[in-house]
Amino acid sequence: MQKRLIESDKFSSLIPEIDEKAVKEKGSGRPTYWGMVFWRTRKPLVSARAFIAASLLPEGFNITEYKRIIRLNEDIPHKYQPITNNVFKDYVLLDPFAGFGSIPLEAKRLGLGKVIASELLPTAYMFLKAVLDYPKYGEKLLKDIERYGNELIKSLEEDVKELYGDTTGFVGSWEVKCPHCGNYTPLVNQWWLLALKEGSSNDEEEEGEESEVKSGAFRRLVYMEPVKEGNQIRVKVIDLNKELNVKSVRAKKTKDKIIVNGKEYRVSQGNVNAKKSFARCLHCNNVFPKDSKKWYVKEAINEWNENYEKFMNGEITLEELRNSRARPTLLVKFKGKAKDLTFEEITVKDEEAFWDSFDKLRGLDITKIPTEKASPYGTLRFVTWGIDRFYKLFNARQLIILTKIVEKISYLRDIIEGDDEYKKAVITYLVLAFLNHIRYNCMLTSVHPTRTFVREATALTRFSFMWNWIEISPLANIIGSFSKSLEHVNEGLEYLIQTDSDSQVEVLQTDVCDLRLDPVDVIITDPPYADDVPYPEVGDFYYVWLKKVFPFPYNTQWEELVPKDIGVDEARNKVFGNGVGTYDYFRERLAQAFANLSKLLKGEGVLVTFYNHTSPKAWTSLLYAGWYYSKFRISTTYAITTEDETRINARGTVSLDKSIVIVWRKRAEGTKHIQEVKKNVISAISDWISTNIKSLSLDTYIEVLGKVLSEFTKYEKLLGLKGEGMKAVEDLVSNHVFPTVVQSLIEGLAKGTGARVENPYSVFYVLVKALLPPSKTVRKLDKNTLIFLNVSGNITKKDLLQNKIIKAGKDTIYLMEPENANDINDKIRSFEMLNHVKSAIAGDYNFSNPVQVLHYLEYIALKYPDKLKEEVDKLREKTRFVDEALSVAKIFTKVLNEKDVEYGPSCKMVGGCEKGIEKWVS
Ligand SMILES: C[S@@+](CC[C@H](N)C(=O)[O-])C[C@H]1O[C@@H](n2cnc3c(N)ncnc32)[C@H](O)[C@@H]1O
Repeated sequence: MQKRLIESDKFSSLIPEIDEKAVKEKGSGRPTYWGMVFWRTRKPLVSARAFIAASLLPEGFNITEYKRIIRLNEDIPHKYQPITNNVFKDYVLLDPFAGFGSIPLEAKRLGLGKVIASELLPTAYMFLKAVLDYPKYGEKLLKDIERYGNELIKSLEEDVKELYGDTTGFVGSWEVKCPHCGNYTPLVNQWWLLALKEGSSNDEEEEGEESEVKSGAFRRLVYMEPVKEGNQIRVKVIDLNKELNVKSVRAKKTKDKIIVNGKEYRVSQGNVNAKKSFARCLHCNNVFPKDSKKWYVKEAINEWNENYEKFMNGEITLEELRNSRARPTLLVKFKGKAKDLTFEEITVKDEEAFWDSFDKLRGLDITKIPTEKASPYGTLRFVTWGIDRFYKLFNARQLIILTKIVEKISYLRDIIEGDDEYKKAVITYLVLAFLNHIRYNCMLTSVHPTRTFVREATALTRFSFMWNWIEISPLANIIGSFSKSLEHVNEGLEYLIQTDSDSQVEVLQTDVCDLRLDPVDVIITDPPYADDVPYPEVGDFYYVWLKKVFPFPYNTQWEELVPKDIGVDEARNKVFGNGVGTYDYFRERLAQAFANLSKLLKGEGVLVTFYNHTSPKAWTSLLYAGWYYSKFRISTTYAITTEDETRINARGTVSLDKSIVIVWRKRAEGTKHIQEVKKNVISAISDWISTNIKSLSLDTYIEVLGKVLSEFTKYEKLLGLKGEGMKAVEDLVSNHVFPTVVQSLIEGLAKGTGARVENPYSVFYVLVKALLPPSKTVRKLDKNTLIFLNVSGNITKKDLLQNKIIKAGKDTIYLMEPENANDINDKIRSFEMLNHVKSAIAGDYNFSNPVQVLHYLEYIALKYPDKLKEEVDKLREKTRFVDEALSVAKIFTKVLNEKDVEYGPSCKMVGGCEKGIEKWVS
């Protein structure tokens, strides 16, 4: 079978470059079409492009030419069309989990003969049509969308004027009747409106940023101030730029204070915190009651939502609805555009208009609003607040205008010139703009003072109930309005039109297990990552509106499609039973999917899967599905960056939280005993490591893992595995694959030095030191990394803790190594701070592992280099760990960064160092 470029060592050297560009793409270099509407876990286009091309080109293909084809030399490759000269025209690609279509889009741009994109969900199917298929209509489509979009906007002006006047929008919250004083008090979790620093771009700042101290020039500093007047709470607006009459305010800002020229402005603290079930009345200052199960506030909001439904059904009056213990309330309104919004107090007229719209809403045909039930089992977080039907995510005014937009979009269908498919295309993009708008105009939005002002509902994967929601006029000149969304759709489409090629594109809405096609040349895909995103439930947020324009045969996605979804969400089981939503169910479905993919792939074809979980559990699931169940063998693996760097490094730990790419081939054959495979693998791979590894990192681990897996999965059956099915695969992964990787690495590193490292604590210590870069203090690890590197000697985390190899923090695990330092005295102090070194200095040589002996000898090497030999001889009498400690030192002289605090003393211990690892292998 001819090997492909993706299976060559040459290709792996390009990964850092592909990664670097992928990170840019997920940050400031985002493709404009992603702004059309939001869908989770979109793959970077550059990675999709690189892996597709490398799966089709032969192993020996010239790397310079390959880079030229995929435009890897450009700063942001996706902005350029690949240069392919039709080399891919004879191939057919399938992506059966196509999502928002990064992979098929790039296949199309590479000019494959045929590209098939399939998805389970109708929502994603519509998006795929917009991304992959309809751009074929080119400029005409673009013009028509502009034209009909403008008509749509014009036709809405009257209604918008009636509902919003000259107001751009409102900031609201929930008010709840105080059980102590009987007054309604607004509950607001924070009173900030805008805190925008001069010169910062909108999306630079991190979430939670508002709690930090910030100093400098602010172009906007605006907050609300609640003031008690009689039995009313008046919400005043404090706009510091206005108040001080300056464009830019130089200030120091904390969460609840602004200091300008020594003068202090206090910003009230929020009076509600749902996590702590805390709420305080702004009238009487009493805290609302709660017990372990019930919280008054949550019950009251549930009551509002029940009453909302009764009201809609004509069972109660508006008066009764308004008398619910909780109700939405307006805090302030805003006018103007984008960053120049001006804020004003709410008037009685505003309040009346708000409640009048509830009366108007009742006059509306109920079939026009989304009355579908949201999945009831808590996957969507807002349901526990009584928001059990989708219309309850909107207030009356929002529903009135949103239903109008949908009505007008549907009406356009009769007017648009062209055949049915073309009409559908135009309408699809208009609907996309609408769906984007609703995520900025519903009760799940919130105020984001340091960034874009409106934080959209989809900011959290499973949605959450929000206190200070934002309502915007669809025609407002701010991000997220319908008119702005139309502009974004136009920009997106413009991008997509440029991606057009001669490829034949087929978009399907099918469960991967039901796909029936002629076998294809490559399958490149990104299956769901267990419990990462509950797509059917979350997608219903869009679907219930989408189906008002395009009829689909399902009431909701969750009701019909959850049992087919390949995902983990235990809560699903409450409604569906039969194991639906459990990890086992997920694994079986994933296995069936792979089995079908095996049928859909040509004999010499390549299957490439991207997978965002690197946990041992994820590896087990994939191996079970791909190898054990479907008889694919693994040809190679890569670790790549697909999510943005901030997420990966958010906890400051170096981790294996990357995507793994697995290249699979048909098929595993024959039988062999596991021990035999293991022996051969360790010997071959440690040789390979000792001659090929240029620098060490966690990616080396994945690279070696790939090599190990490709040896094990060559065979259809491995004798000596314990159990059957998942049990056998778990045994394979935990007791053979990971230990083999670790052992190959250690033997590879030790080869040629005569060093032998066998003690499980030393093995673990050496690997962490070798694979993780040094930090300012000590190395930190996350849970998965700990598991991976700790599988060699069957030692547990507890053992590592007890033996003082690691120390556990709240979320992080620290390696018990001497702290890094530059100055020799500081270095010596770092060693002296280790308890076992301290004890040995005091004459207590009760070492429990070779690492402790190593530390003590390193200390001697630094402080009393002349006495080193003498001390080594003395220690031999007292502990059996001396030789292994010396072996570790030998390895350290080869693998440690010269800046590592243990590098220098290790060199002294082994009698000198003239090289780092690069010099060592060459
Ligand atoms: C990780 S996402 C793919 C993202 C995509 N590569 C992109 O760049 O946008 C996985 C997709 O698999 C879909 N899916 C889940 N179960 C499926 C099934 N049984 N058949 C087909 N698609 C399924 C989900 O709806 C989801 O969109």
